[in-house]
Amino acid sequence: SNRIMLGPLVAAIDQGTSSTRFLVFNAKTAELLSHHQVEIKQSFPKEGWVEEDPKEILQSVYECMDRTCEKLTQLNIDISNIKAIGVTNQRETTLVWDKETGEPLYNAIVWLDLRTQSTVERLINKTPGKNKNHLKVRTGLPISTYFSAVKLRWLMDNVEKVHEAVLSHRAMFGTVDSWLIWCLTGGKKGGVHCTDVTNASRTMLFNIHTMDWDPELCKYFDIPMEILPKVRSSSEIYGLMVSKSGPLTGVPISGCLGDQSAALVGQMCFKDGQAKNTYGTGCFLLKNVGTKPVMSDHGLLTTVAYKLGRDKPACYALEGSVAIAGAVVRWLKDNLGIIQTSTELEKLAADVGTSYGCYFVPAFSGLYAPYWEPSARGIICGLTQFTNRSHLAFAALEAVCFQTREILDAMNQDSGIHLSQLQVDGGMTSNRLLMQLQADILCIPVVKPSMPETTALGAAMAAGAAEGVSVWSLNPEDLTEVTSEKFEPQINPEESELRYARWKKAVQRAMNWET
Ligand code: G3P
Repeated sequence: SNRIMLGPLVAAIDQGTSSTRFLVFNAKTAELLSHHQVEIKQSFPKEGWVEEDPKEILQSVYECMDRTCEKLTQLNIDISNIKAIGVTNQRETTLVWDKETGEPLYNAIVWLDLRTQSTVERLINKTPGKNKNHLKVRTGLPISTYFSAVKLRWLMDNVEKVHEAVLSHRAMFGTVDSWLIWCLTGGKKGGVHCTDVTNASRTMLFNIHTMDWDPELCKYFDIPMEILPKVRSSSEIYGLMVSKSGPLTGVPISGCLGDQSAALVGQMCFKDGQAKNTYGTGCFLLKNVGTKPVMSDHGLLTTVAYKLGRDKPACYALEGSVAIAGAVVRWLKDNLGIIQTSTELEKLAADVGTSYGCYFVPAFSGLYAPYWEPSARGIICGLTQFTNRSHLAFAALEAVCFQTREILDAMNQDSGIHLSQLQVDGGMTSNRLLMQLQADILCIPVVKPSMPETTALGAAMAAGAAEGVSVWSLNPEDLTEVTSEKFEPQINPEESELRYARWKKAVQRAMNWET
């Protein structure tokens, strides 16, 4: 049969909290040619604990690669045109494995996990002035259950196998990017143990000024530096795919970015002041602040946005992180059973078009930005005899929008400059009701690209642009215009403010639940 001539292709592995994807793009047009997605199981062994199986994560990557390659072959597209692979991933999720056996020594502790809450409280109480921002100058982050260092500390203190492996110099620590790159480049037979600056900046062991692991932070958390991966830029050849990868054997892995950074790149937010909001399991608003880190006075994080090449400067971002966005949909489905699929949620909510005064604060994992309150817990309030599951569905969608409004407000306050519109992406943006609600609640237009896989696109761009690959140009003139859809605010601002004020009252009730 006739092979279609397309020129160079670039692929991306997108390993998120809820699912894994493999996607293949045309490097000249950024067109998505084929992809495959597999859901990831989460386990909740105790209240507040969230784990995933590292081997299942790896297996899901192989499965997505195989299926995507099959689909490409069916489309008569030559797989050998894939010139590079980028990796993008759920950030902070913490793994330790044995470098000699290649075996994970415990499940991956997912970023949402709350088991380290008491450790975090103890650490904060020990700081001068009980200040959760004690390490913020170096790391850009508050001391919180969210970041990797405390999870790694927990593993070393509570899992005998991890403790022993550390003592006998066989332990390797990594976030999901490191685990995948190590396995895909050979694992125990010579795998490359590395991470990129964006993922490293989420561990709390990384100094965002020196752009390297910080010996004093490692001492503070009592973590031996030899177990840490080597920190590289977000765009360079880390290693080649080994033979287990079938037709992709020998392809360089040359891009690596935490998923929120990748979305910033995929949305082409390369200029100071440009921002995007991604609705995944959680919701993350990142604003590019240029080549100097900017510290927030309003509860936002400072994080490394990207460093697209060894000799390129690093760019930083201010980030507003919301722990629960898409996760609330999964909760309504799996825990309450009021919907069977996420698309049903939109219909259910649209049936009523209002929450009828019901407010739902899904603080399942405490509250992240701008509060950073680990002891907050979820509440549903304002119920009457009249309230039904449709109102609850609507309140859940509104919760996602209100949380975004809170971080956008914080960002506006920090910079004194108001964003005139919000660029969005991620799974939930296919929910048109949500997008309209978001515009209504922010009182600014919401702009959604027609190709929703911007996270994967960002990782593919980084991989394709790497030195020695160079099939994707990141020159602003060469970048393809993204086509998009715009949602304009439709309700009057007073009504929006009233609802937002009620939401804030509900948040106050969710705070300090346990104390
Ligand atoms: O910080 C966690 C974040 O990277 C997870 O992203 O898309 O899996 O919700 P997502």
